[in-house]
Amino acid sequence: MAISFCLPLLAGSEVVSKDIPLYKQPGVPIDMRVADLLSRMTLEEKVLQLSQYIVGLNTNVNNTGEVNTGLPDGVGSYIYFSEDATLRNTLQRKAVENTRLGIPILFGFDVIHGFRTIYPIPLAQGCSWNSELVRELSAIAARESRMSGTDWTFSPMIDVARDGRWGRVAEGYGEDPYTNAVMGVAAVKGYQGDTLSSKVNVAACLKHFAGYGRSEGGRDYSFTDVSRQSLWETYLPPYEACVKAGAATVMSAFNDISGTPATANHYLLTEVLKNFWHYQGFVVSDWNAVQQLIPQGIAANRKEAARKAFSAGLDMDMKDDCFREHLAVLVAEGKIDEEKIDESVARVLRLKFQLGLFEHPYTPVYEEDKRILRTEDKEMAARMAQESMVLLKNNNSLLPLKKGMTMAVIGPMAKDKENLLGSWKAHGRTEDVESIYEGLEKEFGYHTRMFYAKGCDFDGSDTSSFAEALSVASQADVVILCLGEKAAWSGENASRSTIALPCIQEQLAAELYKTGTPVVILLSNGRPLELARLVQQCDAMLEIWQPGIAGGTPLAQILSGKANPSGKLCITFPFDSGQIPIYYNERQSSRPDQGKYQDIPTIPMYDFGYGLSYTTFSYGTMRASSNSIQKNGKVRVEVPVTNIGNMDGYETVHWFVSDPYCTISRPQKELKYFEKRFLKKGETTLFTFDIDPKKDFSYIDETGNYFLEEGDYYVIVKDQKIKIEIK
Ligand code: BGC
Repeated sequence: MAISFCLPLLAGSEVVSKDIPLYKQPGVPIDMRVADLLSRMTLEEKVLQLSQYIVGLNTNVNNTGEVNTGLPDGVGSYIYFSEDATLRNTLQRKAVENTRLGIPILFGFDVIHGFRTIYPIPLAQGCSWNSELVRELSAIAARESRMSGTDWTFSPMIDVARDGRWGRVAEGYGEDPYTNAVMGVAAVKGYQGDTLSSKVNVAACLKHFAGYGRSEGGRDYSFTDVSRQSLWETYLPPYEACVKAGAATVMSAFNDISGTPATANHYLLTEVLKNFWHYQGFVVSDWNAVQQLIPQGIAANRKEAARKAFSAGLDMDMKDDCFREHLAVLVAEGKIDEEKIDESVARVLRLKFQLGLFEHPYTPVYEEDKRILRTEDKEMAARMAQESMVLLKNNNSLLPLKKGMTMAVIGPMAKDKENLLGSWKAHGRTEDVESIYEGLEKEFGYHTRMFYAKGCDFDGSDTSSFAEALSVASQADVVILCLGEKAAWSGENASRSTIALPCIQEQLAAELYKTGTPVVILLSNGRPLELARLVQQCDAMLEIWQPGIAGGTPLAQILSGKANPSGKLCITFPFDSGQIPIYYNERQSSRPDQGKYQDIPTIPMYDFGYGLSYTTFSYGTMRASSNSIQKNGKVRVEVPVTNIGNMDGYETVHWFVSDPYCTISRPQKELKYFEKRFLKKGETTLFTFDIDPKKDFSYIDETGNYFLEEGDYYVIVKDQKIKIEIK
């Protein structure tokens, strides 16, 4: 990229001093600063900018391997595991002061659902249907990160995931492309704010591009076989939306797609992302993923791996050092164009300029109380925890609990703190967490007798504590049974063959239910669960997910009736693990009445969008402003909803579209819009959806082009549908 420029071009920008290199002058437009800096760099310096290493204590147990030593003073980027900015500043000083050009380092970290103020896992956030809250929490995470020395988070994960066995289902927003797109955009906006150079914003990273959520058999790091059609209709839309929203970076995925690993996938990285979507940010590999092209079977050695990944469009190599080792040689051998290297380096430098790192390379070392765990931030985390909890069952209106009921709080999750944080807890600490028991005590303790027994462990076969649990259950008016998954059972490299809870937990529930004391089951987990048996062993069931530091009080307020549950599932809960993959937007079957399982039901246990409330929302007749419009017309669809119960509450309306006949067979229904609103008891409100057929009725083909056909479309809300003809 040979870019020449002269002073008159700078009209309108701040005065330029001829004695100071252009790239060091903040008033000069970023592209010119980049070009100037590039023109001064050696090939080795350029390649260093495309290399990322780790520093500090590696907290990802799956990513082991030798720590790179003997690195030069300035590298492109570090994954930064430190809790405050001290180490960053030391390393940064070396890069800025000891290197020839003083290029600052970019510090990245996995801040997935909070930095220290850990809020619910993304799968839970999806169930809140509150994208504004997702944005606000991401902004909190960004603030804590940037003030602690991290400029860049490897989040959001927007991999559509339809296999609950895959542990990373916890890290995304569920099974639906639209939900992942909306929540992903909200997260990007929260992280990046209005300007990256603000001292409270960080660069986002969309991951894992692409198709990672389709890992074969739900096994992590496994291959995927996704057709181009499925890629475009299911896996790419969230990326397209977030790219348009300005996400600064993208991470390539570990998986291969039909034989070509995403790390070396020219179609994905160059043709789609950079050429078709005109993406200006850069692509970082996943951890060691360049080198992993060898076990993946497309490179014989590290040099070939570097060549294939870089030539496909990968800009930065995470951790494995293949780029630094080989790119310059590959240029010398004529196998890679230096111009291509310049392009990648320009992408990296552009972000460093945008973040203001050249002007402010160091992070002030703030006092903890200014930087993390602010009261208002913890309140926000608690609000999300509450809004994400999903009431799955409530027989005979057991919940909310009547005042004064004696409570037996039982189960391995009752006093646990560690596991409520979930996976990818960044700098989250157990000591920050309010346990379920503590939350209940705070809410009920003054006027209710509470007993406790652990009952059993998360797994294993030791039933020796059952007796104690049964004894406290018999003394109480209600059992609050706290079950679930350990944090490490979901997240990266945490696949399970069945998504039922271990037998011991089901057994404990069965025994307790037999006592005749009403049982409320609370579930904390990082994936959908198989609940067919458990659901028979209780009167009420509340999914609380992995709520982070502030789960206890929000759930206790739901049990007491101070809060009305409003979460709805963003992922289907199967009846049985054998149904996987199961999701609401399946394509149409050739024989809809046949093809059922012979041994289990074919329908799921709980559908996408399912969730109970303490009040009743009655839906009036849905109407459309017109039943027949032109392709470029607009139509408004509306449905009145009345809160006819006895409690105020939130209701989320999901608007689906179906197109029964199309050149490409489409899913039975597709979510196109959702809205959550608060309704006082007795209140009626009109939910509306303004349909733009080009956006909401059109479909995408296997080349990524949207098309809109004439014919009949249906808009669906709950059990109502309305036909709209496109002429
Ligand atoms: C994960 C990524 C993560 C990276 C850095 C990888 O193993 O797949 O999601 O961002 O490690 O920690």
